[in-house]
Order: sequence, then C-alpha cells, then structure tokens
Amino acid sequence: MVKDLSVNLCGITLDNPVIPASGTFGYGYEFAKFYDINMLGTFSFKGTTLSERFGNDTPRIAECALGMLNSVGLQNPGVYKVIAEELPELKKVFRKKVMANVSGFSIEEYVKVCELLDKVDEIGWLEVNISCPNVHGGGLSFGTSAISAAQVAGAVKKAVKKPVILKLSPNVSDITEIAKAVEDAGADGISLINTLVGMRIDLKTRKPVLNNITGGLSGPAVFPVALNMVYKASKAVKIPVVGMGGVSSAEDVLEMILAGATAVEVGAANLINPFACKEIIENLPAAMDKYGIKTLDEIRGKA
Ligand code: SIN
Repeated sequence: MVKDLSVNLCGITLDNPVIPASGTFGYGYEFAKFYDINMLGTFSFKGTTLSERFGNDTPRIAECALGMLNSVGLQNPGVYKVIAEELPELKKVFRKKVMANVSGFSIEEYVKVCELLDKVDEIGWLEVNISCPNVHGGGLSFGTSAISAAQVAGAVKKAVKKPVILKLSPNVSDITEIAKAVEDAGADGISLINTLVGMRIDLKTRKPVLNNITGGLSGPAVFPVALNMVYKASKAVKIPVVGMGGVSSAEDVLEMILAGATAVEVGAANLINPFACKEIIENLPAAMDKYGIKTLDEIRGKA
C-alpha cells in the first residue's frame, strides 16, 4: 500500500518530510541534473545575504571521522542576483515552494533580504540563519543570545508575510531558552541544529587546517547531539521544529520525528551522495513498515 508521507510545515503541505539543507544543495537546479527534484518535500537554498560574498579564504573544508568541518563563510551571489538569475533557473525544474535561507550581519540586513524574498512567489518559507559559525559579527553572534535572537525574529516577522523559521545554533548552553525567545518574538517555526564549532590541526605544518582556524562540524558524528537538541526544543515550544544534523538515512528521519520534528533537513549526506535525499524518501515507507509505523503523525514527539 502507498504510504502517506505528507507533513504540514507552517501551513504548507509537503509531500514528504525530507528537505535538503541550505549550503548542501546549491539553488536546486544543479541537482536536477541527477534526478527529478520535485520528489523532495522542498529544499532550503544556499544562504543568501544582501551583497555578493566570496566567502572565507581556503582551505575551508577539513575531513573528520564521520563528518566534515566547513568554514565557507556564506559565499553567495547576493539577494538581487539570486532573485534575477538563480530562482528563474530553479523555476524551470522545480514546481514546489522553496525555502529561502537568509543570512545577515545586522538586523537591518536580515529584514531587507527577507523583504525582497517575501515578494517572490516561488518561495514558501524564510529560514533565517542566526547560527553561521564561520563569519565575524553576523550569524552566530545573533543566535547565541536570547535577546538578539528574539530581536531578529521580531524585526523580520514585522516586515514579511511568509512563514519565518529561525535556524538555531547548537553552540549555546540552553537551546530551550533561545527556542522560546524566538517563539515569543513571533517566529512561525525553528530549524536546528546548524553546525558545531570545531577545528583540526595539520601535524606536518603544526598549524590549523582551516584558514579560518575553526569551522562547523556536520555529518553523522553530530546526529545524536542534534537529536537531543530537537527533542529538548520541541518540548519547549509549540511552533513546528525542523530537525537536522547528521541525518543520512530513512531511520534517522524517523528518529527525528519521534524526537518531535515536523520535517527533517538533510545536509552533509548530499555532499557524499547527490542521490541521498532521493534514496531516503524511497526508503521511508519500508523503514516505517519495519518498525510498525502507519503514519508520521502518529509518532511525532512520542519518544
Ligand atoms: C557557511 O557558509 O559558512 C556555512 C553556513 C552556516 O553554517 O550557516
């Protein structure tokens, strides 16, 4: 029997809960060369700022056991080019609403970029990234304080009509405090976790591997940490939670939903296998059967 995998994320129905995470799926059309990306729930496009950014100097990737460190530094073409060039390319191959991932270095920048993207029909949700660990004076500096996280959420909410999802950092002492602060400020949802700050040292040069010294750890190594934070955050708030962090199988998706996630983003797995999300979606019905799960709704938050 065909299983209903649909979930409702902030008022928009997704055919299934699987969402490639920002920064691992470009602006989508690159992956349409491999498979029909309309089978996805949706995807979150590359973190977009007001102006074009080259990102951090290389090396900005380091491999680790069961994961990787990145210090990309929000490389992107800037919101005007995203609207004029990237989204028209996406429209040729994707019929669903896409999630816009927005980064910034000031509250005004977050608001401006969100206002511009709010006017784009193809965008369903604004995922506001207050958790990038690889830039100075932006991203994470907003996401580690409940006060500034709430200020970003409140300012963006006042300026837009589309649902606003705040992307939270695991690099905090109490995730529930930040989650509740953005909910109180009006956020429609939260997504977590972004990457964990880490570093590697090259034994030959005796210097950090990454030019930026530190980077964000992602991949299967972070999955248990992510699951715990999704579990705690989803118990603390009433708004939908999008779980992510090291998800690489249909079973991981089910664990995230049991922890309380409404939908699940898949990140680093796309960089290892461009078909990762396709395979996870295809494997979900069998994984549900294996564990006696009839619908995703019946298990949500039941861990
Ligand atoms: C980056 O561009 O540095 C990664 C984005 C992020 O971790 O939020």
